[in-house]
Order: sequence, then C-alpha cells, then structure tokens
Amino acid sequence: MVCFIFLQSIKIIFLSKTKQNKLIIITLVTTFVMYNYFVYTQTSIEPTPKLSELAIKGQQLYQENNCTACHQIYGLGGYLGPDLTNIISNPIKGSEYVKAFLNSGVKSMPKFNFSEGEKEAFVQFLAEVDKTGYYPNYKAEMQPDGWVKLMYKTNE
Ligand code: HEC
Repeated sequence: MVCFIFLQSIKIIFLSKTKQNKLIIITLVTTFVMYNYFVYTQTSIEPTPKLSELAIKGQQLYQENNCTACHQIYGLGGYLGPDLTNIISNPIKGSEYVKAFLNSGVKSMPKFNFSEGEKEAFVQFLAEVDKTGYYPNYKAEMQPDGWVKLMYKTNE
C-alpha cells in the first residue's frame, strides 16, 4: 500500500508539467511521509504501573468472582452496577464503604462471603487502580498532532 502510494507520487511528479507543480507535490509527499514516521514510531512515555502483591490478589478475586460482569473499570465491563475506577478516592465513598458493600447483598449485587483479608485485597486493588487516573477523564487534551493527551494521576 505504502509502496503503491510512493510509486504513484513519483509518477505524478514526473507527469506534472510546471516546476511549481513538482515542488508542491514533493512538499506534500515529504510532509505525508514525515507525519506517518512520527505517528507510527512514537512510543508511550507513560510508565506502566505495577500492582503490589496484595493488589494482585485483589485483582484475582475480582476476576474469579466475576465483578466485571456488573462493574466497570475505566468504563469497561458490565453495566448493572457502577464504575469502580475512582471509588476509593471518592470523598463520600472510600475503602470502608467498599468493604461494607462486599458482604451485604444490595439490590442485584450478590451477597458474598469474603474474609477481612480478602476485603483488604479488594480495597488495595481498587486503590492502586484509582491512583492511575480518572474515569470519566475530563482532563484530556487534544494535541495539535491529533492524539489525545490523557492526564494521569502519576504525572501530576
Ligand atoms: C450481578 C451483578 C453484580 C456483581 C457480580 C457484583 N456487583 Fe457490585 N454492585 C452491583 C450493583 C447493581 C450495585 C449497586 C447497588 C446500589 O447502588 O445499591 C453494586 C455496588 C457495588 C459497590 C458500591 C459502588 C458504588 O459506587 O456505590 C461496590 C464497591 C461493589 N459493588 C463491588 C463489587 C465487587 C468487588 C464485586 C465482585 C466481588 C461485585 N461488586 C460484584 C452489582 C454487582
């Protein structure tokens, strides 16, 4: 595909009659090539956050108990229950609120039977997820090159 565009451009350059036309086409092709080069070779500068051991345990419990069937993290998951991305830093919710929910059985959320240690693991997992960013993220900015720059909590 790229080869085809490249060959077509060379053909157009040869076929164009005036010097000015040639110059315009060369400028456009060069800009196109440079733009693509920068867009496709740019690597993410954000470090990948690593979960602690307790948070990994929480993540496993989250997966084993299918919390994601009803809850979302960064908007991904089922939609029966609310998004949990920022529940820990939410001033009217937080870790005690999460723990209270786990074994209560509210509305369509099943009544689980987690130990105190397992509840801690859930809280730790959600706390570390919370530290990575916002959902929904209103701190996103459109860059001149067309990418959207997300504001992460880790680079504030
Ligand atoms: C069958 C669906 C379902 C499953 C599975 C489920 N939940 Fe829920 N959850 C809900 C619903 C619905 C609510 C909202 C209840 C309400 O607001 O009264 C809720 C509420 C919550 C809340 C409070 C959220 C808030 O912002 O008020 C937390 C925390 C929570 N669930 C955690 C979990 C975790 C952790 C798991 C996995 C162990 C889980 N849930 C599994 C349906 C589910």
